[in-house]
Amino acid sequence: MLMKGFLVSKMIGTKIVHFNEIDSTNTYLKKHYKEYNFGTVVSSNHQTKGYGRKGRIWYDDQTNSLMFSIYIYQELNDTLGLLTQLVAASMVKTLQKYNVNARIKWPNDIIVSNKKICGILVENIIENNKANVIIGIGLNVNNKSFDSSIQNIATSMYLETGNLYNKKELLSTFISQFNTYYCNHVNNQLSYLDICREHSYLIGKSVTLETGEVAEVLNIDNIGRLVVKINNKVKTFIGSEVTLHHIYKK
Ligand code: BTN
Repeated sequence: MLMKGFLVSKMIGTKIVHFNEIDSTNTYLKKHYKEYNFGTVVSSNHQTKGYGRKGRIWYDDQTNSLMFSIYIYQELNDTLGLLTQLVAASMVKTLQKYNVNARIKWPNDIIVSNKKICGILVENIIENNKANVIIGIGLNVNNKSFDSSIQNIATSMYLETGNLYNKKELLSTFISQFNTYYCNHVNNQLSYLDICREHSYLIGKSVTLETGEVAEVLNIDNIGRLVVKINNKVKTFIGSEVTLHHIYKK
């Protein structure tokens, strides 16, 4: 029985399109999203031109990473920034189910043992008042080593636990967690933000911004912005507005 006033949300993952090799699942969906319905997931074993935020290369070693993109859309409004947090919380919960304890380096990195295990890249294509949202996720699963340029800053589920994992099963665990939080989200229940706060890698730490200013990270607000204190003034940033350089551990 449905509760009165409770909105049943659309779901992701009803259709999964899988490639053995592709340039990038994000690039593919950016070109082809009009051919697909809400919630389509595109995954690939290998990407020849995988990329992350700020045009950085996303490395994979042919088989060991879980790489996929999700196509959703929504009205253009200020809840768009929440989607990265919803994905981050879904990934933390997914990893928890496999006994991997992760934290979120706002806005889009998932960290284990001070190293990155997963990156999230949300790209929006705005048309009229509609945001077509392509959410790209790269999770290091069974990787035993990394490119020398990232070996000191990257980790995988295998390196953390010594176990090998089934990527298909991981994807379906993630999809079901995402659908739970997404349904909450469309009903204005933002419990996933509490997961982001509880598992934050930044709250309580000091970071330096691109400007050289030192900021104390206070919180993540209800539209997913980072709340910081700089020179005794409280400021908020959205993900694209700020690059956090050094993190001083307290
Ligand atoms: C980041 O760390 O800056 C985000 C990395 C996002 C990588 C994923 S892998 C699947 C999707 N396709 C891409 O080319 N990028 C994203």
